[in-house]
Amino acid sequence: MFSTKICCIGAGYVGGPTMAMIANKCSDVRVEVVDINAERIAAWNSDQLPVYEPGLDEIVAQARGINLFFSTDVESAIREADIIFVSVNTPTKTYGLGANRAADLRFVESVARSIAEHAGGPKIIVEKSTIPVRTAEAIKSILETSGSGHAHQVLSNPEFLAEGTAVADLENPDRILIGGETTPEGQAAIERLANVYGEWVPQERIIRTNLWSSELAKLVANAFLAQRISSINSISALCEATEADVDEVANAIGTDSRIGPKFLKASVGFGGSCFQKDVLNLVYLCGHFGLPEVAEYWESVITMNQWQKRRFADAVVQAFFNTVSNKRLAVLGFAFKKDTNDTRETPAIDVCKRLLEEQASLAIYDPKVETDKIFRDLDANDDDERLIVCASAQEAVQGANAILVITEWDEFKDLDFETLFESMVKPAWVFDGRNLLDHDKLRAIGFKVRAIGKPCE
Ligand code: UDX
Ligand code: ADP
Repeated sequence: MFSTKICCIGAGYVGGPTMAMIANKCSDVRVEVVDINAERIAAWNSDQLPVYEPGLDEIVAQARGINLFFSTDVESAIREADIIFVSVNTPTKTYGLGANRAADLRFVESVARSIAEHAGGPKIIVEKSTIPVRTAEAIKSILETSGSGHAHQVLSNPEFLAEGTAVADLENPDRILIGGETTPEGQAAIERLANVYGEWVPQERIIRTNLWSSELAKLVANAFLAQRISSINSISALCEATEADVDEVANAIGTDSRIGPKFLKASVGFGGSCFQKDVLNLVYLCGHFGLPEVAEYWESVITMNQWQKRRFADAVVQAFFNTVSNKRLAVLGFAFKKDTNDTRETPAIDVCKRLLEEQASLAIYDPKVETDKIFRDLDANDDDERLIVCASAQEAVQGANAILVITEWDEFKDLDFETLFESMVKPAWVFDGRNLLDHDKLRAIGFKVRAIGKPCE
């Protein structure tokens, strides 16, 4: 009754939403998402999905129990499927060879071993996790050496969705990239997967390449995006020194159609699970292949980002004559960007840790991030007197010396700043790490304001 059975190993930020979209668009495909984390699977089967994404609840509700299933039975899902997506986490290695640079492939490797063991027939295996170039080869070699001789095909099909806009990105992607072997079998596997996406993505947007081009293109796309942000952030420092306005500069250069307007928003620094990891991966690869100059070039993207986060925290300390000891700082936003509850590599972690080191008291509010996640990210306990997590922006700001905007949540734009000002210790400061607020209006109320790439007071 179903023409194709798909299984996806890994029910995270990528696997869950992507599979929900495939199930919605392809009624004759049965999709089973499996994970070893039983709690996560239970959440996918409940009304409280483990991932917050606008529009996701609806598409999950429409397909779940019909052609979309979530389970912990990895083995039987592998056995049943024609196409197996691998969407497990690939963090940066924290130990041994390539520490802090290379991707840690132990999750991918363990999945490859499970597939080899339980496949029971030839499968199309699709790498969806961001993984370094030539991982497909590693997966293939595990399948060949530990399997029972089935002729599997390995494809690379990187995901380009951004968190917070995942559903829209999946529904209307700029492109779908599928890399495979150049053999007739490899080409046939590519077409089988292209047919799934072809249910809703126009064929001209489905790019077919060899395996390694596809794997490398994913890393390079993220490296170029991260580089744009580090570039504009570097210019933000120059703007502050020269009284140019970084938003005006970004707008002026962005109208050049060769440069384009997107990803030129200066900020407290980029975060998220992909940018730093992928740039570091690229750096590692360049080093591995004897290209130290290229490695150094890309590494500077990360160095600039670290400096930008540090610069923001230091500006807060400097504004209080080099001591924030016992000052209450209201931190608005903790997620790495708006419309997500994800805090991986969020600039909030570095900024808050630095300010805690300076003995500030932090009152943090984020509309979606869970309290215990904030404590965990900051290596803090709930009995730490200098850290509280608040249920509203008003509560965080009450009695504070400064407001720090770290995430660009829309609701922060609509806060009643007159009332907030009344509730604060004077002089009341705003440090806008996202250039989100109306600074002239804030100054008219009486706030002292510092923002990214804007003339300082
Ligand atoms: C990114 C890529 O966009 C996506 O294609 C890939 O699949 C995964 O990595 P994501 O990390 O979800 O997606 O978010 P993105 O919107 O790219 O933002 C990353 C970080 O850059 C955020 O911290 C964001 O606030 C910051 N950013 C983005 C800026 O500081 N300025 C900008 O102009 C754009
Ligand atoms: P991403 O952002 O790439 O989707 P996540 O960390 O959100 O990454 O999700 C990856 C998921 O993969 C996690 O839920 C994790 O439990 C799951 N996972 C890791 N290893 C395995 C495995 N061997 N089998 C099944 N699931 C796995």
